[in-house]
Amino acid sequence: MAQAVSTRGPVSGTATAGKKRRKLFLLDLYSTAVGKKYAMALSGIALMGFVLVHMIGNLKVYLGAEEINHYGEFLRELLVPLAPRTVVLWVMRLGLIGAVALHVHAAYSLTQLNRHARSVKYQSARDYQVANFASRTMRWTGIIVLLFLFFHLADLTWGWFNPDFVRGDVYYNLDASLSRLDQYKSNSVFARNQLGLEESALTSVIDNLQRVRELTPEDHRRLVDQAMNEMKQAHEQR
Ligand code: HEM
Repeated sequence: MAQAVSTRGPVSGTATAGKKRRKLFLLDLYSTAVGKKYAMALSGIALMGFVLVHMIGNLKVYLGAEEINHYGEFLRELLVPLAPRTVVLWVMRLGLIGAVALHVHAAYSLTQLNRHARSVKYQSARDYQVANFASRTMRWTGIIVLLFLFFHLADLTWGWFNPDFVRGDVYYNLDASLSRLDQYKSNSVFARNQLGLEESALTSVIDNLQRVRELTPEDHRRLVDQAMNEMKQAHEQR
């Protein structure tokens, strides 16, 4: 005779625990060291691509003001009237900002992962097999590039460091920026000449004091010696 079988509950609590929600594939991948390395490599390639295209665009400066300014306007007008003015440019800019942010974040978290993987530091100098000088110093060159970028944008895009800045006039702004280099150069030549003049004035004062000393009676020389010492000190400090 068939027996009624009562349905049994779960054997343990874990059997009914809700399914662990899986992360999005890309986020899941990014949480691993390999994923971060992929992110670094791909964002790095994208940034190098930008620099290459930027350089090709900048070469238009050799064709004259009209050409490069027209190119700047072309970038702002991309896909107009399909999209409003500057929208496509902003989408590209956001992509670029995203690539920089991802590159910096991946670099930082890979360094943290590396640090936490060893509780004890290497006791001897690392014997690098593949990493060359350029790749080992990339964290510093990266910071230098970021600083350059800040200066570059403040100079040519925002105009903060360019007193003669005219919005939208790429050629003029570039010219004004590079002319400042000439100004710095002539300022430094002027400063060097002034220093040379000062130096020869000091030397001649010391020579004259020497002569005065020779002509001063023995018991009054102390004052002249003191003045000479002061002059010599001023000369040495320069
Ligand atoms: C001789 C070298 C370079 C020259 C003459 C140059 C020139 C320029 C000019 C004229 C602009 C446009 C400014 C504007 O009208 O808004 C610009 C923008 C920019 N440059 Fe450069 N650049 C040089 C190198 C670089 C390098 C090496 C980088 C990257 C590391 C870079 C990154 C940028 C960025 C991110 C912008 C902003 C782009 C935007 O507004 O959408 N530039 N540069």
